[in-house]
Order: sequence, then C-alpha cells, then structure tokens
Amino acid sequence: MPNLSQSFPTTRLRRVRRTPWSRALVAETRIAPQDFIWALIIRDGDNLREPVPSMPGVERLSVDQAVAAAREARSLGLPALALFPYTSAKDRSADAALAFDPDNLMCRAARAIKDAVPEIGLMADVALDPYTDHGHDGFLEGGEIVNDRTVEALVRQSIVEAKAGFDIIAPSDMMDGRVGPIRKGLDREGFAHVQIMSYAAKYASCFYGPYRDAIGSSGVLKGDKRTYQMDPANADEALREVAMDIAEGADSVMVKPAGAYLDIIARVKDAFRMPTFAFQVSGEYAMIMAAAQNGWIDGDRAIIESLTAIRRAGADGVITYFGAKAARLLGA
Ligand code: PBG
Repeated sequence: MPNLSQSFPTTRLRRVRRTPWSRALVAETRIAPQDFIWALIIRDGDNLREPVPSMPGVERLSVDQAVAAAREARSLGLPALALFPYTSAKDRSADAALAFDPDNLMCRAARAIKDAVPEIGLMADVALDPYTDHGHDGFLEGGEIVNDRTVEALVRQSIVEAKAGFDIIAPSDMMDGRVGPIRKGLDREGFAHVQIMSYAAKYASCFYGPYRDAIGSSGVLKGDKRTYQMDPANADEALREVAMDIAEGADSVMVKPAGAYLDIIARVKDAFRMPTFAFQVSGEYAMIMAAAQNGWIDGDRAIIESLTAIRRAGADGVITYFGAKAARLLGA
C-alpha cells in the first residue's frame, strides 16, 4: 500500500466524491452493455410471450419472439444471448432423448436467430435437466446420478447444439471430466472454432428455484443436486474445479451464482487470469424484482449496483436476465 502517510485533514477522501464529474473520473469499475450475456427462456409455439410468475418481467419466448429479442440485443450492443428451453413434462424422459434431437427447440431457436442476426453470439446450456423426467442434469441409475455415461451424452448434446449454430457450449451439469471429451467431440466434428465456457464453480444453490419454474423442472425434480453441484461452504474446492476445467480445454470459466459468491469470483480471477464470467441467476433476479415491486428497494439502482459489484469482484462479463433492461439503464 503506497501513501500510508496520508492523514486528515490534509487528505479528505470526500473531496473527489463531491461532484458527478469527479466521481465519474475516479470510478474504478465501469459496466457497459458489452459486459452482458442476456439470458432468455424459450418455449414452443408461435408469437407467444408467457410470463414466468416467479421472475416478474421475464417471459418464455417462442422462437419468433426470441428472434425479436436477438434484434433488440443487437441494437442495444449486447454481444451474446444464452438460451434455456422450457420443456413440458410430457416431452421429458429418463433417457433425455429430446436433448439429442437436431430439431429440438434449442436447435430451432439457434438456427432462426443465426439466420436473422448472425452477428450475435449464442450460448447453449449443456446439461440434461430440461429433458429428464426427474429434472436432474445427468442420468439416474439406482438412485445415483451417474457420471461417465452422462458425460458421453453431454458430448452428443454439445455436437447437436454446435451443428445448430451455437457459438459457445456451456456445460452446466457439474459432472467430472466433461470438458475434455466435449472439446474432443467438437474438434472431431469440425467445430474447433466453437468455444467452451464451463460452469466451473457451480454451487448447489436455492437461488436456482425460479429458473426451475421457468424451464418446467420444479414439478418434476426429485431430491436435490448436492451430489454434483458444490457445497456453498467451500471455496478452495472451487479453485480445483476451475483448474481441472482449464486443463481440459475450457476457453472461459464461470462462477454461479454471482451475488453471494463474489469472493469466489475474485479468487478465481486472481488465481487463473482467465476470461471469467459470473451468472446472476434467477433467484438473484427474483429477489431484486420482488423487493422493487414492493417499493422496498429502487429496482433500477439495484440492477446497476449488483452488476457493478459482480464486475468489481473480477468478472469479465455477467450472464443476466436483466440484459436488455440493464443496457437501457446504461443509456443504450
Ligand atoms: C441446469 C441449470 C441451472 C441453471 C442453469 N443451468 C439450474 C440447476 O442447476 O438446477 C440456473 C440458472 C438460473 O437459476 O438462472 N443445468
């Protein structure tokens, strides 16, 4: 620490805070639309926007509406979208067959968006939970989520998504050793240019609740995900998770959730100096919106403050449901 000798009254830290122009000059963290990956929930149908009750302001979008959102994202300067599919109970199965169908909702959406707005980046979640009848991210055998058979399925799912036009494959399943096989599979199929953003440090969090409503998993999910997602009590373990995913070929890494895990974001960025992302998840969104709707906090300020804090902690970018809204608040 330089300047240990600074002392009052010669030094007055309030001096630079007096005026907006001065605060702008000394701001250490800036956020801009380019920092956000806008998370969208998609669904089957035509010209549909279906509200998600636990996420006020978020709607499940049919493919045509997702294309409209992509155009909006482009005009706001948002670089990329992350898509998550709603799947009804009747389309789910133990073998998650729909995950490997090149005409599934995710693939149709990717083709339509890439057709209309080719310059926007598209990120695909890789995990089986939108497609399994038990809502888990992997296959369930004898009461266990099995690792290695799930990894083979994730490779197939990734290839199907890359073929549909996704630019970033983002495994969110937390199986061990999936990044390496996904990389090999993508390379073998001619997708050496497709990136992998691993959900490297993903915690078993209550803050995913509204997301599970949004994708239709809440009603079907049996038990919890603590045998594969991380214990919120752990931090050193997050560094091991991240190290392994980097060694296996991840291009960028993610910490999830974001707001309650700022220490993890900071440590990961510090330790690895990798492109580091954080996911401001559905429950973080819902908390801000619920309090704002009650008049208990200023929602707009909470959006900007929470995103600024995530960037300040060390995230290069944030996956957020506030994407378009935040961009507009920033003057886009
Ligand atoms: C599942 C997945 C989850 C999220 C993204 N991918 C939830 C979970 O693990 O149950 C959470 C996103 C959010 O809460 O916004 N593979």
